[in-house]
Amino acid sequence: MGLTDEALHDAAEAARILRAGGLVAFPTETVYGLGADAEHEGAVRRVFAVKGRPADHPLIVHVAEAAMLAAWTTSAVSPIASQLAERFWPGPLTLIVPRGARVPHVVTGGQETVGLRVPAHPLALAMLRAHGGGVAAPSANRFGKVSPTTAAHVRADLGTDVDFVLDGGPCDVGIESTIVDVSGAEPVILRPGGVTKEELEGVIGRSIRVRTSKVEGETRAPGVLESHYAPNARVVLVERPELAARVTSERAAGERVAVLASVADLTTIAPLLATPNDERALIVLPLVDSAEALAQRLYAALRDADHLGATVIVVPLPEAEGLGLALRDRLEKAAAAR
Ligand code: TXA
Ligand code: MG
Repeated sequence: MGLTDEALHDAAEAARILRAGGLVAFPTETVYGLGADAEHEGAVRRVFAVKGRPADHPLIVHVAEAAMLAAWTTSAVSPIASQLAERFWPGPLTLIVPRGARVPHVVTGGQETVGLRVPAHPLALAMLRAHGGGVAAPSANRFGKVSPTTAAHVRADLGTDVDFVLDGGPCDVGIESTIVDVSGAEPVILRPGGVTKEELEGVIGRSIRVRTSKVEGETRAPGVLESHYAPNARVVLVERPELAARVTSERAAGERVAVLASVADLTTIAPLLATPNDERALIVLPLVDSAEALAQRLYAALRDADHLGATVIVVPLPEAEGLGLALRDRLEKAAAAR
């Protein structure tokens, strides 16, 4: 996609602000990021402050091209890292590699590894090229809240705490990148995301493990998950056949219910629409027809449900394959106890 002169001008302005230690929200194909020059420690600290994020949650460093991988890690780039970078960058994949000397500790939360990614968005790439270095960025939302997929979401969340918002329209993928740790002997998926497990396995030629707890070896009580990606409304996950019964019982309990369903659920939803009481009318969020469409609309739909006054959002769980793995991860975190 070619960029207009105005877009190129904005990208250059964003790069200038970053170099001066400012914060820039920018579009990527996954979600919007809140960027700081990765080598400007003061700016990186401000990102943590604005997000309200604990200092031990490291930031991803975004760079303009795969050739920059070597500059941000230690001298020897592992064969798997180069293979994955070559196949999926630019794209929704973050590689965890040993931290290079130029990566400040404040970026990695003190860890000896760093997350690197080349985003597939023309405006982000123009900004990164104009900047020339690395841009450390988490998703541009307050800690624990829903990630932004439009510039309007960023402005609503961060207001004047960000110096510049690059508007690149709605994000294509809609959920965050897949994070793969390639710093150890075996690659491990730390967070499912826009690149699927199946796609990764296709490239490395064998099965890849998905880490399920935050710290390797840590035992967690079943069902105990960190609340994250959460709207104000309570999120309730159901198996498809239970959809109608759950909507009915939540409404009977006095809740204002929204459903985030697919076209396939239309016949289930239709009879639920008739209600004598407007206060309790069912809110039907945009119906989706694929995991890709659900990913693209998920975060905007959760925000819409809040704006429409829903107190409960009922979501049929997607199948645990392809993008469905990442969708279930985000939905389970949105539904986790606060
Ligand atoms: O799609 C994305 O990845 C978006 C866009 C803006 O690039 N970014 C994003 O960043 O989702 P954030 O900070 O919201 O989530 C990054 C996750 C965090 O959970 C962080 O703990 C993990 O990546 N992470 C970053 N560096 C790491 C490292 N060295 N080791 C393990 N996990 C790391
Ligand atoms: Mg985030």
